[in-house]
Amino acid sequence: MISNHLLFRLASGEVFGPNQPIALKLLGSQRSIQALEGVAMELEDSLFPLLREVSIGIDPYEVFQDAEWALLIGAKPRGPGMERAALLDINGQIFSEQGKALNAVASRNVKVIVVGNPCNTNALICLKNAPNIPAKNFHALTRLDENRAKWQLALKAGVFYDKVSDVTIWGNHSTTQVPDFLNAKIDGLPVKEVVKDTKWLEEEFTEKVQKRGGVLIQKWGRSSAASTAVSILDAIRSLVTPTPEGDWFSSGVYTTGNPYRIAKDIVFSMPCRSKGDGDYELVKDVIFDDYLWSRIKKTEAELLAEKKCVAHLTGEGIAVCDLPGDTMLPGEM
Ligand code: LMR
Repeated sequence: MISNHLLFRLASGEVFGPNQPIALKLLGSQRSIQALEGVAMELEDSLFPLLREVSIGIDPYEVFQDAEWALLIGAKPRGPGMERAALLDINGQIFSEQGKALNAVASRNVKVIVVGNPCNTNALICLKNAPNIPAKNFHALTRLDENRAKWQLALKAGVFYDKVSDVTIWGNHSTTQVPDFLNAKIDGLPVKEVVKDTKWLEEEFTEKVQKRGGVLIQKWGRSSAASTAVSILDAIRSLVTPTPEGDWFSSGVYTTGNPYRIAKDIVFSMPCRSKGDGDYELVKDVIFDDYLWSRIKKTEAELLAEKKCVAHLTGEGIAVCDLPGDTMLPGEM
């Protein structure tokens, strides 16, 4: 569902621009190959001027050959009664396999955006299995959470969302994520000067963003797809176009070398800026208060616990899985 929303817009050139030809290589599974053939047929029949190649396959070692961008979307959703540790293990296997394949055959400069949940830890597994690709090139998608936060702040302030800037999602793409209203701005002013209702910011706003994916699943009966696809396009666009002055974007990135004293060696969503070359730098001039920092510590603890659960997939020994009881994906309520 996500890919079907995404592919046609990628093929249209709206992200990489009108001078960049595109080759789409679609990775599926034995079970999904017919559907993949159908999508490929529709892409061909759309006669996109920039679309020079559509190919499909089920072997990541073939499909990832020379890939410049890898958008890793497919993962198993958590089924009824399934332990989160089991989900981490099943999906972790997918991302360790895909990491190995990227390491073997993708462009050495490939940028990888991990969407399949739990995306932060899946991205960590992926990068650990791809030692020949810079860890900095791996992202976990938290742009959807940023977009959700922007919309809620704009709604509360009675402005259009384009007046909201500097929104950071800190941490895990889960219900412990921290939408940062301390550093965010509305019309260039700190959010707290515009929205004076601190209780709303700390409780209603924060929870709404954290649980938005779950509420959507309850209403739709399935995960977000169209808005996830839009946020993947936004995430790529943020890396291939210079970040506007006075703004930034959120992405789940590898923490080693971060200036915020977030634990090293995890994938944690943080504020980034890009020159438009596909790379990014972390934003330095952010502030913290006790509320923000205590929330950050909670999402950090969750990611450290997830990391221990997948030690067998990151080459760091035997998995020890002791996840905090309230740890949930955004889709879980
Ligand atoms: C979302 O945030 O909408 C999804 O990640 C929810 C989910 O668990 O699929």
